[in-house]
Order: sequence, then C-alpha cells, then structure tokens
Amino acid sequence: MSRKHRLAVIGTGGISRYHMSGWLKSGLGRLVAACDIQPANLEGFCKEFGVAPEHAYSDAREMLRRERPQVVSICAWAQHHASLVVAACKAGVKGILCEKPVAYSTAEAEAMRRAAEKSGAKLMITHQRRYGRRITRAKQLIAKGAIGDVHTLIARGGGGLTNTHTHFIDMMRYVLGDPKAEWVLAQVERTTNRWERCHVVEDCLAALIGFEGGVRGLVDSDTPLDGAAKGGLWVYGTKGAIDLFGGPLLMSASTGGKWKPIEARREVDPPIEYVRGLIRWMEGGPEPPISIGKALGTHEIIMGIYESARTRRLVRLPVRNRRRILDQMIADGTLPLRKRKPYDIRTPAALKAGYR
Ligand SMILES: NC(=O)c1ccc[n+]([C@@H]2O[C@H](COP(=O)([O-])OP(=O)(O)OC[C@H]3O[C@@H](n4cnc5c(N)ncnc54)[C@H](O)[C@@H]3O)[C@@H](O)[C@H]2O)c1
Repeated sequence: MSRKHRLAVIGTGGISRYHMSGWLKSGLGRLVAACDIQPANLEGFCKEFGVAPEHAYSDAREMLRRERPQVVSICAWAQHHASLVVAACKAGVKGILCEKPVAYSTAEAEAMRRAAEKSGAKLMITHQRRYGRRITRAKQLIAKGAIGDVHTLIARGGGGLTNTHTHFIDMMRYVLGDPKAEWVLAQVERTTNRWERCHVVEDCLAALIGFEGGVRGLVDSDTPLDGAAKGGLWVYGTKGAIDLFGGPLLMSASTGGKWKPIEARREVDPPIEYVRGLIRWMEGGPEPPISIGKALGTHEIIMGIYESARTRRLVRLPVRNRRRILDQMIADGTLPLRKRKPYDIRTPAALKAGYR
C-alpha cells in the first residue's frame, strides 16, 4: 500500500478537489496529468496541483494514450462517465474512481461493468456516504433490531434524481444491507427546460420502491418544501426510527422515546477511505462497499423510476429499457414543456457556452 501510483484526473471541477484530497492525504497517488474540456477549469486545476502545461489535455483518450496512468479519478459530468470508463479500461488503467451517478442508461452502466471485467480494472462509483462511521453504526443498529422490523424509508431533497437521490437511494440500500429492489412505481414532471451539469433533469418526481421483504422506500425529489416537509432521510421500524441526516439520530424505547445522537468512535475522511479501498482492492484485498457491483443496484432503481413514469405502470426490476429514459421521454413528447428556455441548476455558464 505504500507505492505511489501514476494518477490522472479527468474533469477538473468542484469534486476533483475532493478526490485530490484523498490521493494527497493517503500518499497513494502521484498526479501525472489532468484533462478537462473547459480550458479555464483545466488551467486552474493544473496551477493548483502543479501539473505542467505539457501534461494538461482537453482530450481524455489522448491523455490516457500518452501518459499511461495506473489509476484515474473520473470527475467529469455523468453523460461522459461510461465512455471515459471504457476508454480508461482500454488504455490499461487498473484502478478507477468514477463519480456518481453511474450513468444515464443501463446500456452505459453495463458497458462500464463489462469493460472493467474484461480489462481487470477495479472500478468504484463514489457513493462515499457508505464510509460514514455514524451511518455505518446506524446500519448496525438496524441489523440488531434497534428499531424493530423496518417497514418504510423516506428520502426527501432537491437537486435531481441522478444527482442528489442517487446518494439517498444508495444509502437506503446500504443501511438495509443491500436488499433486492423488486419494483418501482413513479411519477415524473418536467414542464420547464431544466438541466443539471449540462444534462437534462426532471423538475420533480415521487417514487415508491418495493424492496424484498415488503420494505418500502419513498423518494420525494424536488417537490415544494414547505411547512413541516424538511429534506432528509428517515428509516421507520415497528419499534422506533432513525433520522440518518440529522446526526444521525435514533428514537426508540431505549432512548425514552426521544431523538438521541448515534455515536461512533471516530468519523473518517471519505476520500482517504475510498482511495485506500481502491488500492487495497487492486492489490487483491476485499471488494469495497462502493464497487461498481454495489452501485448498479442503485442505478437499476433510478432507471426503474424513469421507466415507471414513462410507461405509467408499476415496473418490475431490472428494467429492460436500455436507453436514456428521461431523454427518451423528452424526445417522444411524453414530457411537453411549458417553459422552453433552458437553465442549468449547477453549471449555468457551461450550458450557455454549449458544453454537453
Ligand atoms: N460524490 C459526491 O458527493 C459528488 C459531489 C459533487 C459532484 N459529484 C459528481 O461529480 C461529477 C462532476 O461534478 P462537479 O460538481 O465536479 O462538476 P463541475 O462542473 O464542477 O466539474 C466537472 C468538470 O468536468 C469537465 N468535463 C465534463 N465532461 C468532460 C470530459 N468528457 N472530459 C474531460 N472533462 C470533462 C467539465 O468541463 C468540468 O470542468 C458529476 O457526476 C457529479 O454528480 C459527486
């Protein structure tokens, strides 16, 4: 675990700094090159992390071919995750940290998994909340029956299904011990021309997930937050409840019916954990909690939500539709616009400049 691996970063915006903190603090990466399609972002990153201009690229394939990195952090927008992961695998990269969400379609997600399997690369999707010690303690308490039999989870928040709710759905699965999701029933609205990091996104949606064993997950995304409707993630059982975002907190007979913090000995720094987890896995260690295999379960539910909205039916998982289902609904007129002017909730300048 001591060797520094030749590292390249693809996508040099906000989250790339988080990855870099993990690589630098763990001492496991030596940054040799960086790539971005937006010159200003690339230049800023290269100055900050000491990448010489001859190792700065606008084309990821060229960078992979010339620099031959052993590990890459893929911090580009999700519409490029699949093609970048496949390119990295083909270029012989052995360890890949790719940002969430996995991708916008099952065809892309499967291509990522297949490429990694074929080349032997270890591929992780950074749903980093699985590393939280207090969240993991909450998961252990649930497994020990601290809130009885879990029957309902509720996730509520804004920012888009594939952005915010990929974390929430992944956490639902994590604290339940990654059960199989059997079906999804959902409704999606997109009447304004809303985008998120230069890709289309819905205005709002609500979805019900049927997990095996009869547990229900409710996803309440971007609906109006007013009155008592606060964002968060809650787990309800027959004998109590856990508020995963408010601490997390536990309420049961053991806490006298009051919300009490769930303690853990020491919180960890997720990027250090996932960098170490990747290198350990590359060296023959255990599969980490955020491997592509784990993330595909979350991806499947997300695709189910869009497919249920498209077909107006309860959809049994896995979904057969392999396309970008939200894009498909927009293209076929299922989601007609009332306001045509495009706007991006995360990268307005990049959308305006025509980046996709
Ligand atoms: N895990 C988390 O908690 C978390 C937090 C924030 C963002 N993210 C995810 O990270 C990804 C990036 O988000 P961000 O906030 O850093 O966005 P950002 O816009 O700040 O940065 C992304 C950068 O990638 C570049 N890029 C896009 N396509 C590219 C390509 N094909 N090749 C090279 N560069 C490319 C863009 O030009 C941009 O500079 C998204 O998938 C996002 O959902 C995850």
